[in-house]
Amino acid sequence: MSKTSECRVCAGVVREFFDFGRQPLSDVFLAPEADHSDEFFFRLATGLCESCSMVQLMEEVPRDRMFNAEYPYQSSGSAYMRTHFEQLAKRFHGAELTGENPFIVEVGCNDGVMLKALAEAGVRHLGVEPSASVADLAAAKGIRVRKSFFEEATARDILAAEGHADVIYAANTLCHIPYIGSILSGVSALLAPTGVFVFEDPYLLDIVQRTSFDQIYDEHFFFFTARSVQAMAARHGLELVDVERLAVHGGEVRYTLAHAGARQPTPAVADLLAEEAAAKLGELATLEAFGADVLKIREDLTTLLRKLKAEGKRVVGYGATAKSATVTNFCGIGPDLVEFICDTTPPKQGKLTPGMHIPVREAAAFSDPYPDYALLFAWNHADEIMANEQAFSAAGGTWIRYVPNVHTV
Ligand code: SAM
Ligand code: TMP
Ligand code: ZN
Repeated sequence: MSKTSECRVCAGVVREFFDFGRQPLSDVFLAPEADHSDEFFFRLATGLCESCSMVQLMEEVPRDRMFNAEYPYQSSGSAYMRTHFEQLAKRFHGAELTGENPFIVEVGCNDGVMLKALAEAGVRHLGVEPSASVADLAAAKGIRVRKSFFEEATARDILAAEGHADVIYAANTLCHIPYIGSILSGVSALLAPTGVFVFEDPYLLDIVQRTSFDQIYDEHFFFFTARSVQAMAARHGLELVDVERLAVHGGEVRYTLAHAGARQPTPAVADLLAEEAAAKLGELATLEAFGADVLKIREDLTTLLRKLKAEGKRVVGYGATAKSATVTNFCGIGPDLVEFICDTTPPKQGKLTPGMHIPVREAAAFSDPYPDYALLFAWNHADEIMANEQAFSAAGGTWIRYVPNVHTV
């Protein structure tokens, strides 16, 4: 009999379908000289709610352990993502933020990558961001930031101080929040009668179809589908009125919620629901088959890395992503197999990766001299990275990729 837990959305039975075992916090990079004996680990496992179909982690990590003054991820680190968010800001400005003195609230604004353009255009805005490390970067760009976790009480405070929001937006943040009932109650209160709550997160269908198991780590608590989001919204008087598939971060969906009955759902909603049903996304057997694919990738990747080591080849990692914590820890990839990981994020450089303790070095270390092989952990940024690193391939270097299967390029 599989293990179960209680659904964080509907209190139904969540049945476990995959266990990654003992995993560290994906964004806690360690100082090499520090004592690592107290490194935090938890059991990373995923399950499916039998009632509302929400896929979620079986165990929750306390939020302050993940999102605090040490949180290193900076959204503006990718030029491609900067453009993605600038385009969305423009779209909001021209469509949803056209009334008198419009107001937008962003949950998890990070370093201000999306709000910057709206702040510069003089639009009334507020970012809510608990991680002081990145909230301070946003404030330095002239963005109004409230340094706290968004939850129902925060939403009611904002409502009392500033009135209703025309747009509430969250990118790669809602899926991080296990106490999602409090978020949706807050959204329901804060959102103007004709307003929209828009959020985008990694899409379960893409994860299953690409076997991108590295999307599963401490911070990613929920794996949404149109079906599970629709059911969740209805519990809070909200309605799913639009969905848009996005190519970013390995495949995401941008969901638009409105107060129930306020907007006519677009045909895209029914289309995506039908596609999910055809893919049997809400069935345990589908997710168990995904688990079998994950085990195959682990086997293929570790076999390849051991073979390269035996041949005396140098292998370096590219991008010390949060995702790479799951890959390295689940596959047992340490500094013996991957010499170091290069990354452009200053707070990660000079540190050791969570759990497996692979050194993280600055981007310039990659070409000094080039390794024989580069293991692409930041595969969701492949287009941008490949364009910048053409000299590596030209010099005879080979990329190793593991999504959707292990292959070299
Ligand atoms: N929106 C940015 C993007 O898409 O690149 C940042 C995404 S980052 C992966 C997740 C952010 O959510 C972090 O900056 C974290 O501090 C923030 N966060 C976590 N829990 C939150 C909460 N309850 N309210 C607001 N922000 C939260
Ligand atoms: P993400 O996949 O969560 O967005 O994380 C991407 C990581 O990869 C982040 O630590 C920054 C790093 N990175 C590079 O080192 N070089 C690059 O060109 C890009 C786009 C990202
Ligand atoms: Zn449920």
